Amino acid sequence: MNDRTSAASPRIKLLEEAVFRKIAAGEVIDRPAAVVRELLDNALDAASTEITVEISQGGIERILVLDDGEGMVPEDVRRCYLPHATSKIRSEQDLLAVTTLGFRGEALGSIAAVATTRIASRARGTPSGYFVLVDRGRLVEEGETHLPEGTRVEVERLFSSFPARKRFLKNPSTEGLLCRRMVVEKALPFPHVAFRFVRDGQMEFYLPPQDLLARVCAALPELFKPSASERFEVEQDEVRIEGVLLSPAFPQRDRRHIRIYLNRRLVQEFSLAQAVAYGYRGVLPGGQYPAAVVFLTLPPERVDFNVHPAKREAKIRGLSSLHALLARAVEQALKDWIGVRRIAPTTGRPETVGETERVYRPHPEPSRSGTGELFTGPSHTFTLPSDSGHPPSPRTGEGFTYLGQAFGVFLVVEREGTLLLVDQHAAHERILYNRLTSHPSSQELLFPYAFPVDADEAARLEDAREEIEALGIRFVLEEGRCTLTHLPAPLSDAPHVVAQWLKGERLADPERDAYATLACRGAIKEGEVVDRLTALDLLSQTFSLEEPFCPHGRPLWVEITREELFRRIRRIV
Ligand SMILES: Nc1ncnc2c1ncn2[C@@H]1O[C@H](COP(=O)(O)OP(=O)(O)OP(=O)(O)O)[C@@H](O)[C@H]1O
Ligand SMILES: [Mg+2]
Repeated sequence: MNDRTSAASPRIKLLEEAVFRKIAAGEVIDRPAAVVRELLDNALDAASTEITVEISQGGIERILVLDDGEGMVPEDVRRCYLPHATSKIRSEQDLLAVTTLGFRGEALGSIAAVATTRIASRARGTPSGYFVLVDRGRLVEEGETHLPEGTRVEVERLFSSFPARKRFLKNPSTEGLLCRRMVVEKALPFPHVAFRFVRDGQMEFYLPPQDLLARVCAALPELFKPSASERFEVEQDEVRIEGVLLSPAFPQRDRRHIRIYLNRRLVQEFSLAQAVAYGYRGVLPGGQYPAAVVFLTLPPERVDFNVHPAKREAKIRGLSSLHALLARAVEQALKDWIGVRRIAPTTGRPETVGETERVYRPHPEPSRSGTGELFTGPSHTFTLPSDSGHPPSPRTGEGFTYLGQAFGVFLVVEREGTLLLVDQHAAHERILYNRLTSHPSSQELLFPYAFPVDADEAARLEDAREEIEALGIRFVLEEGRCTLTHLPAPLSDAPHVVAQWLKGERLADPERDAYATLACRGAIKEGEVVDRLTALDLLSQTFSLEEPFCPHGRPLWVEITREELFRRIRRIV
């Protein structure tokens, strides 16, 4: 800084290595969950069969990962935290054939640069272990130590000398949750490895060695239940696809629950998630997405993970054929599992009662020229533009650009020089209402939905049966319960909404517009996070509405023109 005095003197200096390493470390290690990720990768690469992760204070205070893998000899323990120290590749050539999760030789070095790290390891078949204690990149102590075969890495006081970085961390409970999610993420593709997760001294979960279906259900219990999930597997041309699908009876609002793993790493590859959704397209109403965990195994030379510090992204050769294979595999698996009931596409014609088709209809053979052309099948009202023949576009819909969500209520859009704040609930409500009133058809539920009713409620439902059935809702009454068998198509994913309504309000106030109430109940709520694709879809439909008012008469959006904004700024200045 003192060098500022003379403008003519050179100002560029090469950073000291310690500083440079800290900066580089920040790219790999940005929060406790990243430490957990890297240590788990190492433990898994070491062929462990049981791994324990313990964290304190969300991992900010302490993270311990203990494995029973092949371990390291003392010489390797002394080297493992040095920059570019790796046993996994030796040459550039090896980069093309990486089969391990790690390969860069920078994870331990990056962790050791920003925390106090103790690495102890005992190689399989050797009598004792060795440890190093490294404080923010400096070796403080080393020596022999006793521990079982395997490796134990303890990371304390992460970022303690990086107040700026520390400030970016969330509170310990959120960081802890992210660590927990990371353990789940890593446990899914390794079902035969046992995982234990301990937070602040409490064991939060233990996953024993198990088969894939059991692992998915145990690791993601809130979503996958064994009775509603199915494992599938396909192998073709050196590509293996394996996974677990959740029944379409449990549709999701967005694609978040489609997890794609590529060579055992979770990747954010939109087009592959889209392929899974496409495989479900005949059995899910438009606007609904499946939940699935899919593991793709490709020859390593077809995948390059060396593009993202956290290895979240990959370059894949032959993506479009992989996409087609995946979509077909999912479709076929669903057909084998439940038989395919095709929901009639929303083409402007009402859906007829129970229109289902048991015959498998393969979708058109995909073209090799790009993923977009795969999507030539029928599209539903809520299907994204990219699902109906256009390549996906990131933020723009027809004539507008989606900027994001504000206050959990508004979708912010730029359109023709005007800023629009679209009320997400009201817009969805209007769309649902229109669909309900223009398609007064009902759809048979793949999985009927039962809910308890007392004798009074049952009697009232029986009395009102005709009126209720006129709305497209069909039900069976039995001792103590009512089972919904058919629902209006736009509400087929929300039987709980209908059940609640049947039990309560509807009977108290029969004069109300039933569809308006149901649309209101079934619509995206205020405060709900809307993913970008759902937002684009919702907005496209909103802008093509003839009456941009919610069923209660409120406008769906407010507008501020560019001129208005400019005028306001000038007034302040
Ligand atoms: N749990 C472990 N068991 C056995 N060896 C380990 C373990 N953790 C680290 N190592 C050894 O230390 C080396 C360095 O680990 P580090 O995580 O820094 O790099 P990497 O795994 O090779 O590559 P990446 O930076 O992509 O993770 C590894 O290559 C491995 O030889
Ligand atoms: Mg590693």
